[in-house]
Amino acid sequence: MPLPQRVRIVEVGPRDGLQNEAVTVPTAAKVELVERLAGAGLPAVEAGAFVSPKWVPQMADSAEVLKAVRRRPGTDYPVLVPNLKGLQAALDAGVEEIAVFGAASESFSQRNINCSIAESLERFAPVVAGALERGLRVRGYVSCVLDCPYEGPVAPERVAEVSARLAGMGCYEVSLGDTIGTGTPTRARQMVETVARSVPVDRLALHFHDTYGQAVANILACLETGVAVVDSSVAGLGGCPYAKGASGNVATEDVVYLLHGLGIQTGVDLQAVAETGRWISGILGRETASKAGRALAARGA
Ligand code: HMG
Ligand code: MG
Repeated sequence: MPLPQRVRIVEVGPRDGLQNEAVTVPTAAKVELVERLAGAGLPAVEAGAFVSPKWVPQMADSAEVLKAVRRRPGTDYPVLVPNLKGLQAALDAGVEEIAVFGAASESFSQRNINCSIAESLERFAPVVAGALERGLRVRGYVSCVLDCPYEGPVAPERVAEVSARLAGMGCYEVSLGDTIGTGTPTRARQMVETVARSVPVDRLALHFHDTYGQAVANILACLETGVAVVDSSVAGLGGCPYAKGASGNVATEDVVYLLHGLGIQTGVDLQAVAETGRWISGILGRETASKAGRALAARGA
């Protein structure tokens, strides 16, 4: 299949990026991060998670973040929601889009959200229905689409099954998470092809972590299936507290550089994202993990 002419990038830095950080990022910096990313033309900026603060303390101020962000018309600001309690908190914060998050591996599901895959799907059904009734958009995530940190390789058919259940519930899109970033291009593409037999490619998104430096290659291989939505994180921030050893998401700067180089439109200002990446990395006390971000800085750009 020819590559898409346009790719929608879902920026997950303020959520996936910051949920695993040892440094406590001030709420005002999170608000500025979300606003800068939206200002750089990213069409969706995942802005927080309404999860248990005991499980993920870094997201405990998501309500304050969402209330403070000056929202741009046309930009989506999804947040993670694991249950009805999270949905209520998201509604109270005036959220217009949520994402439920399941897994294709039983052990990861237990460690991440404290229930089996079947229980998680039962739990999500009223969350999705309640959100849709109130006019919210709902996205779905499936974690461990290639490998699980506790169980090893995951069957693509299992990924397809969970994805189909989420799509069937009313998730407009299902994002396929290579949570620990172990994937390589051929396997990744074959997994997407298998899932696409159950959920149409125009309802799928790619979510690669970059632990082994394969994420950009994986994205290119998977774009060849017709998927045209990619999740990424400014400065390559990210990781899941319940997936030991997983590194950050693929950097937004690297994805934008790849896509623009292929002549694919994103609407994203690479320069602005790179500057934001260096700024937030400074707050976290390190250099940006984005290779494109570093190269642009070295050129003085
Ligand atoms: P649980 O302990 O089974 O829940 O956790 P519970 O219902 O028994 O409640 C326990 C306590 O949490 C209670 O408080 C609840 O009120 C509170 P207590 O009575 O003890 O004071 N609680 C909440 N508080 C605030 N907001 C809520 C909420 N729910 C319960 N929504 C639960 C189950 C799902 C809540 C927990 O396991 C959890 O929050 N997990 C979230 C883990 C997480 O956020 N992981 C990272 C995101 S997933 C990811 O990164 C992967 C992804 O990027 C894709 C990829 O890369 O693959 C998306
Ligand atoms: Mg992730």
